[in-house]
Amino acid sequence: KRLAVFVSGGGSNFKAIHEATLNGSVLGDVVVLVTNKGGCGGAAYAKENGIPVVLFPRTKEESQQFLSSDLVTTLRELEVDFILLAGYLKLIPVELVQHFPKRILNIHPSLLPAFGGKGYYGLKVHKAVIASGARYSGPTIHFVDEEYDTGRILAQRVVPVCAFDTPEDLAARVLHEEHQLYVDIVAALCEDRIIWRDDGVPLIQSKE
Ligand code: GRF
Repeated sequence: KRLAVFVSGGGSNFKAIHEATLNGSVLGDVVVLVTNKGGCGGAAYAKENGIPVVLFPRTKEESQQFLSSDLVTTLRELEVDFILLAGYLKLIPVELVQHFPKRILNIHPSLLPAFGGKGYYGLKVHKAVIASGARYSGPTIHFVDEEYDTGRILAQRVVPVCAFDTPEDLAARVLHEEHQLYVDIVAALCEDRIIWRDDGVPLIQSKE
């Protein structure tokens, strides 16, 4: 399967997925990295590893409509099967969601539907979790629809919130789980092991 990864930051999930494609645990190839920040760590890693980088959105002046169709065209030309959002902080254009139905995943660093939506990103998520007194947190992987963090939940992992955690401590514990979870889920995706229940809930079939 042909994968596009979207990143705005350090790209540690992107790196974990790319390494998994190289060692064969994911039966797919990362064919393009899309980023809104050309100077981010994810873009640097892509360039070092010979993965083409596409900047999106490019400039504020160009119309969003034109850019969205441009991006759709590029991804179609590259014959992309799945889009993986990994710390991409811009809303995905509706046009892209419509062209890739049930083919776009995002990872979020809380147990959705708690602590999700616009405004919940980065350390803000972990600060809010700690302030709430919740005893558990963890990453969620979900399909992407037209809103932030509202698409169908596909997978979650749980980590404890410890008594004297700082947001940075909790972020590190969740991020560590994210890498393994995202790799496992992308492996399932590439092996066509995602099935849809009649009520629209996606399920993962375990390996035979
Ligand atoms: C992760 O915490 C992810 O859940 C969130 O953005 C962060 C990306 O981290 N959506 P990285 O760039 O993969 O290191």
